[in-house]
Amino acid sequence: MITFASARRTPTTADVVVLAVYSDRPDSRPSDLDWTSIEARGFEGKPGQVQVATKQGKTLVAVVGLGEIDKVDTTAVRKAGAAIARALKKHKTIATPLLEDLPERIDHNAAAQALAEGIVLGSYSFDLYKSDGAKPSAITRVVVVGEGRGVAAAMQTGAQIAQGVNFARDLINEPGGTLTPAEMTKRVVAMARQAGLKVVVHDEAAIKRLKLGGLLGVNRGSTNAPRFVQLEYRPTGRAKGTLALVGKGITFDSGGLSIKTGVGMMTMKCDMSGAAAVCAAMSVLPAIRPACRVIGFVPMTDNMLGGDATRPGDVLRIRNGKTVEVLNTDAEGRLVLADALALACEEKHDVLIDLATLTGACRIALGTQVAGIMGNDEELVDRLVETGREAGEMMWPLPLVKEYRDDLRSSVADLKNVGGGFAGAITAGLFLQEFVDGAAWAHLDIAGPAFADKDWPYCPRGGTGFGVRTLVRYLMSL
Ligand code: BES
Ligand code: MN
Ligand code: ZN
Repeated sequence: MITFASARRTPTTADVVVLAVYSDRPDSRPSDLDWTSIEARGFEGKPGQVQVATKQGKTLVAVVGLGEIDKVDTTAVRKAGAAIARALKKHKTIATPLLEDLPERIDHNAAAQALAEGIVLGSYSFDLYKSDGAKPSAITRVVVVGEGRGVAAAMQTGAQIAQGVNFARDLINEPGGTLTPAEMTKRVVAMARQAGLKVVVHDEAAIKRLKLGGLLGVNRGSTNAPRFVQLEYRPTGRAKGTLALVGKGITFDSGGLSIKTGVGMMTMKCDMSGAAAVCAAMSVLPAIRPACRVIGFVPMTDNMLGGDATRPGDVLRIRNGKTVEVLNTDAEGRLVLADALALACEEKHDVLIDLATLTGACRIALGTQVAGIMGNDEELVDRLVETGREAGEMMWPLPLVKEYRDDLRSSVADLKNVGGGFAGAITAGLFLQEFVDGAAWAHLDIAGPAFADKDWPYCPRGGTGFGVRTLVRYLMSL
C-alpha cells in the first residue's frame, strides 16, 4: 500500500525527488543538473522517460518527461506517474513538485488523481507463480507539492481507483485452471465483505431455479459448476437513481465444441475481464460514495467441451423466455450476458452498462487500445466515451445497424447466436439488445483492451483492468 500526501514545498527527507521536464522547453530545465550527462543517457523529456540525474545529500534527484507542454493532459500525467513508479520501484519515499509545473489549463485535482492512479497502476506486478520470488515495489509514500486538501483527497481517490484496477488485474491474470467460477466467487465475496458491499451468490441449483438457460447451456461442457453473483452498493441517504452493471465472466473460453485454435486460446483466461471490471469498480464505491444505488450482475462459467457439452444446433431458453439456437459454441459470451441482462431488467434501472470481451471482430476493428461501445441511448454512449477519454480508456462508438438484425434469424428458434459473418461486433451488440428492456443501455466490447499482449506504459503484459476507471469516474459524476 502506498500512502499519498500533499505538502507546501518539496520535503527534504524523501529518498527521491522527481522533477518534471518538457521536451520542447529546454529553457525551463532545472539548471543545477548536469544536462550533458542526462541527455547522453537518452533523456529528451519525452512522455514516460525517467532518469536519475544526481544526488543531493541523501536524496536522489530524478527527472520525468512530460512531452510537449501544449500536448500535456491528465493522461500524460497518469503515464508519468506509472513511469516514475516503475523506474524508481526500489526506493521507499518519493516527492515531486510535478503538479506545480503543469500548465494553468489543467485542473490541479484531476492531475493529482491521475498521478496517484499512475503510480499505483505502475507499481503492479503479478508474480504469484515466479519461484525466484516476487519483486514488489518498495514505494510506500509519495508526497506531492500542491495546495491543500483538494489535492490530497484527489490522490486518495486516484489510489483507491487504481487499487480497484489492480484487483481486476489479479483476477484476470490468475489462470483459468485455478480461477474457476467457485474460486472467483470466493475472491469476490471476500472483497465485498471487506469493502462493505451486499453480496448474494447463486450456486448451480439456484441458477437452475432462476432459469438462466444461457449460463447453464455454456456450462454444460464443464466439470466446474457455474456461479452467479449479485453485488449491491447503497448510498447513505436517498439514492439518486439506480444503475446496473453486467460483466461477462467466462473464466476460460476454449470455444467449446466449436473449438478455438491453440493460438486463439492462449489468452482466453482473460474472458472474465468484464466481470472483473464490474466487481473491481464496485469494490471502490463504498470509499468513493457515489449518490446512486449500483447493482452488479456477474455470471460465471468456463466454456469447455466435455462429453455432454452444448452442441451446435442445440436450443437454449434464456431467462426472459426467448429461445436461442446455438450454431457456434464459441459465441458463448452473449448467451450468459443474455440471462444477466434479462435478469437485471426485471427491476427498473435508470442506466444499464455491460462490459464483455465479446468479439474478436471488435479487436480487429479497433485494436488493443480501444473498446467498442454500442447502446440504445446516444447520450449515455457519448457520455461514457467522454468519461473514458478523461480516465485514459479509449472507446469508440459502433452503430447498432437495425438492418443487420435479420442476420440473427433462426429457422428453429427465436434467434441464433451468430450473425452473418460481417460486422461481428455489431451483430453481437444487436443480440444483446434483444434482452434489454426499459433502461438506457450501453455495451462495451473490451475484447481488444482487456488484455495487454505486451508491456504497456502502465500495465505489464496480461490483464489490464480496462473499464474500471471509466465506470468509477462515471459513477462519481452522477
Ligand atoms: N471471448 C471471445 C472473444 C475474444 C477474442 C476476446 C479475442 C478476446 C480476444 C468470444 O467468446 C468469441 O469467441 N467470439 C467469437 C464469436 C464468433 C464465434 C461469432 C469470435 O469473435 O470469434
Ligand atoms: Mn468464445
Ligand atoms: Zn468468450
